[in-house]
Amino acid sequence: MVSRINRSAIIYVSYSGNTEEMAAYLKEYIEDCGIEVDLFDVTNRLFSIDLTNYDLVFLGAFTWDYGSVPEEMEDFLSRTNLQVKELAIFGSGDTQFGGEALYCRALNILKERYGSPWEVLKVEQSPRGYQEERVYEWVREVVKDVYKVEKSKDLRTALSE
Ligand SMILES: Cc1cc2nc3c(=O)[nH]c(=O)nc-3n(C[C@H](O)[C@H](O)[C@H](O)COP(=O)(O)O)c2cc1C
Repeated sequence: MVSRINRSAIIYVSYSGNTEEMAAYLKEYIEDCGIEVDLFDVTNRLFSIDLTNYDLVFLGAFTWDYGSVPEEMEDFLSRTNLQVKELAIFGSGDTQFGGEALYCRALNILKERYGSPWEVLKVEQSPRGYQEERVYEWVREVVKDVYKVEKSKDLRTALSE
């Protein structure tokens, strides 16, 4: 029995476009599965979103300031009830800023804080090129888990059953 998701939200912050690109890849993939997606860029801090109508929420952030969550994301989160059913975390970073210890550390912080069940998706700068496939593999696993689709089954076939 597949439990249906009506809507998914992708919420992200991005200065130079890398996390935004990841969000666009995720949106494309999820929509391709027949799930509605709303995309929210909260970099300008103007948003407050009611998340009660979303079954699956993606939170995306780059890492800043020695491994910190960007203050724009913190600001958004301080005004948002994130008690959502399912939360998956993704974002972009750069190993040149402090090596492995600080690489995408903001995502580890968010995962620990909100208890996301999935490994966070870390991408070094832009997702374009060799990391692209990893983005799709990750979102595929998240969507499969949420829909309770058997791992061996083709996702699109299962969702259309
Ligand atoms: C001042 C500054 C500090 C940064 N600190 C970190 C860091 O601690 N860890 C990390 O992984 N990346 C760090 N980065 C790299 C960014 O997270 C990376 O460039 C990311 O791709 C930016 O995402 P965006 O294009 O969505 O803004 C830093 C970048 C700048 C400019």
